[in-house]
Amino acid sequence: MRILSGIQPTGRLHLGNWFGAMRQHIQLQDGGHDCYYFIANYHALTSITEPAVLRAHTLNVALDYLALGLDPQKVAFYRQSDLPEVTELTWLLCCLTPMGLLERAHSYKDKTARGMAATHGLFSYPVLMAADILIVDANLVPVGKDQKQHLEMTRDIAVKFNLLYGDTFVVPEPRIEEATAVVPGLDGQKMSKSYNNTIEIFAEGKPLKERVMAIVTDSAAVEAPKDPDTNNVFNLLKLFIPKEEQDEWRTKFTAGGLKYSDVKKRLLEQINLTFGEARERRKELAAHPEKVEEILAFGVEKARKIASKTLERARRACGVG
Ligand code: ADP
Ligand code: TRP
Repeated sequence: MRILSGIQPTGRLHLGNWFGAMRQHIQLQDGGHDCYYFIANYHALTSITEPAVLRAHTLNVALDYLALGLDPQKVAFYRQSDLPEVTELTWLLCCLTPMGLLERAHSYKDKTARGMAATHGLFSYPVLMAADILIVDANLVPVGKDQKQHLEMTRDIAVKFNLLYGDTFVVPEPRIEEATAVVPGLDGQKMSKSYNNTIEIFAEGKPLKERVMAIVTDSAAVEAPKDPDTNNVFNLLKLFIPKEEQDEWRTKFTAGGLKYSDVKKRLLEQINLTFGEARERRKELAAHPEKVEEILAFGVEKARKIASKTLERARRACGVG
């Protein structure tokens, strides 16, 4: 199975990115699959206009992945802009992507509604994403639920190209884990860098504690019975703990007498336990950014082996090769 996924370097990565995407990416590297993971810095260029910020976020995403256990010997790990074959393929795909398909994109509508500039790059974001996926002949794309429509668009574009020019692309499937498809943020909405409701994976100490304590809860009295399923703290905690402990907390919620601060303390403890070692690894790696560059250079060579063949096949198919 060929697997591909990417993450935009648009800010510090958070628990939504971890449970919705990165954890799967790292687990899949050991399943006998052929994995391609990249940092989508050309996608991030649709929202970041500060060169130093984009560079810093790009390095941060690389450090995060590597510290969390991504093994560059097992997967191809690269930076999108180091594989310009992707942008060339984007043009071939642009020429048959219907305007109507892009006009229906939720992500474009949401972003422009929130005040982002309606640039051509933002509008054609899904075509660049289709090129990322199709260029390595990926079968499976592990992502959070918010990317489902982008995957449907990729499939539509691939099918259209194959019909018009003959079989050229593998038509990929999304891989979305139901239990972690939408991780809630501090306010209960989807956790997202854009909503300022995140808990960063690599936060620690006081700033981490402040974020956990800021999770929004209702004002029910301590002795009142409470509903665990509508509680933001429980909904985050349950991602970290086994079923048996989830059931124990459920009983405590419904019995009454539970303090939300105790649930928050347990969540904080579990975050520290889960990411403690990765934090130390990240600090060591951050002291050697040249090593990260070497890893990305090695990764893109692996990706290029497939990408150059796919691009040539697509160019020939449409009469420019
Ligand atoms: P953000 O919304 O913070 O900008 P991205 O769009 O960069 O996050 O998402 C990167 C990856 O993480 C995608 O696969 C996305 O589906 C996943 N992801 C992001 N936020 C969440 C969330 N709250 N729950 C589940 N998955 C998420
Ligand atoms: N659009 C994805 C996001 O915001 C990032 C991304 C870009 C991606 N290209 C991709 C994800 C290809 C999966 C496959 O999260």
